[in-house]
Amino acid sequence: MEKYETHTHDVIVIGAGGAGLRAAIEASAQGASVGLVCKSLLGKAHTVMAEGGVAAALANVDPQDNWKVHFHDTMHGGKMLNNWRMAQLHAQEAPDRVRELEHWGALFDRTKDGKIMQRAFGGHTWKRLAHVGDRTGLEMIRTLQDKGIHSGMDVYMECTITHLLKDGERISGAFGYWRESGRFVLFKTKAVILATGGVGKSYKVTSNSWEYTGDGQALAYDAGADLIDMEFIQFHPTGMVWPPSVKGILVTEAVRGEGGTLTNRNGERFMEKYDPQRMELSTRDVVARSIYTEVMEGRGSPHGGAFLDISHRGAEYVKKKLPSMYHQFMEFAQIDITKEPMEVFPTTHYMMGGVRVDADTAGSTVPGLFAAGEAAAGLHGANRLGGNSLSDLLVFGMRAGLGAAQYANELRDNTLKIDDVHLEKAAQEMLQPFENAEGENPYTVHQALQEVMGSYVGVFRTKEKLQDGIEEIQVLKDRASQLRIEGSRMYNPGWHLCKDLKSMLIVSEAIAKCALQREESRGAHSRVDFPKYNDEKWGKVNSVISKDNGTMKISTSPLPQMPEELRQIVEGGHK
Ligand code: FUM
Repeated sequence: MEKYETHTHDVIVIGAGGAGLRAAIEASAQGASVGLVCKSLLGKAHTVMAEGGVAAALANVDPQDNWKVHFHDTMHGGKMLNNWRMAQLHAQEAPDRVRELEHWGALFDRTKDGKIMQRAFGGHTWKRLAHVGDRTGLEMIRTLQDKGIHSGMDVYMECTITHLLKDGERISGAFGYWRESGRFVLFKTKAVILATGGVGKSYKVTSNSWEYTGDGQALAYDAGADLIDMEFIQFHPTGMVWPPSVKGILVTEAVRGEGGTLTNRNGERFMEKYDPQRMELSTRDVVARSIYTEVMEGRGSPHGGAFLDISHRGAEYVKKKLPSMYHQFMEFAQIDITKEPMEVFPTTHYMMGGVRVDADTAGSTVPGLFAAGEAAAGLHGANRLGGNSLSDLLVFGMRAGLGAAQYANELRDNTLKIDDVHLEKAAQEMLQPFENAEGENPYTVHQALQEVMGSYVGVFRTKEKLQDGIEEIQVLKDRASQLRIEGSRMYNPGWHLCKDLKSMLIVSEAIAKCALQREESRGAHSRVDFPKYNDEKWGKVNSVISKDNGTMKISTSPLPQMPEELRQIVEGGHK
């Protein structure tokens, strides 16, 4: 008789957004028995916050487009810190993955001649984003969910994984709890795929919802895997600023893709100063910094943002192409965007850093541990282009599912063991907040972490701020080791936050340490004290975080060497 409720699968996928679903579909298709575990309800994922489209060189609207231009744009958008092999696979495979989605039932907007419609987005040379109005992520999740539940996998909803278990160096299980009952659950498995998204909730102003607490990156770190490029946090240029209850909610880049203009309180189209060629369709790092600078220099809108206006496109067009934005502003802010401008300010949206993976298999540096989507790193380098997240999760979700299923298949007759000592330690760690006679409220510590990350590890960084931030995070780690929780284990969000805080603190520390180490500005990482690229020193290395005797070690490793034919594409400007 097992002590804990136990399920056994070849492959456990943690996270059921686009990457997790696509991985689970592929692993199932390869004949693996798959368990798909999600912290929230199936379908409630940050994937839906990629509203404006999925980037793929289908060349339906701009026939000059092809994978080479997409590769070129992605590498330049990422300021050449991207893993070239991931960028190549992504650009080459995205069109097939999008067409496959269509065959599974996704209903994209159409061109007049019936092809998948594509729109412009920042940093993409051609109109490349296949879309469904401004609900692209939602339509993708709907389609993948539908396909997934008919693929024979078992879905475990409202189940949080707190620890990965190993037999020697190999992954052998995952341990967690049911949100509703608080009871523990054990998954015995040969392979785990992390598809848990990012860590938006370490910041106060974010487009992420409560689930995004860096779980995958923290689980990987604790299991001994490398994390890379953690300093690169994407502040999406346009989040809502007013009213306060909706601050940070995404205003899709599709507004700018459809011709939206940004102005300051003086009516100036300020992007002329920052990127006169691309204007509002500059890359996200540039637009976010520009809005931030305008506001900090006193040229902000009444609620501390910039004005974003799409009203010149006419009511019918706006309601057709941007229906969610129309309703979002109407319902939350009583603003009719077909007549008036929106107010917007950068919001924490995405992390480019994450688990270091092999480009072809999505395998991490720990045998049996895979990662895909936002939880993994490499594809986007120092800055992600809008729309490349949805194509990322399709391309590398599929590859992770394949890689994990093949790995599990090779271990077919190999019985992996669960380490009982580790298992009991995991259970005890989870119960500790109930047993502490004294201690802090996790919500207080979480709020303090958000203040620290916003103040010290935000859009613009300095050595002093980062050092202070790292010190503050150490203090918060001490406070978080003494949390106290009352009540029972049944549906107790305060208790759940204790575990989430541990993950957020690990990931936040990694972000701050990498940001301090990288003494240059590149992509989404802006050091006021090192405002330029330092190609010689920092343009050739990834930042690396690993666990060494229980402490966080930071180092660098050289970027993989790019083959000559790809270098020519990057340098030649394939347009
Ligand atoms: O603005 C957006 O619709 C977000 C897209 C993305 O993050 O890729």
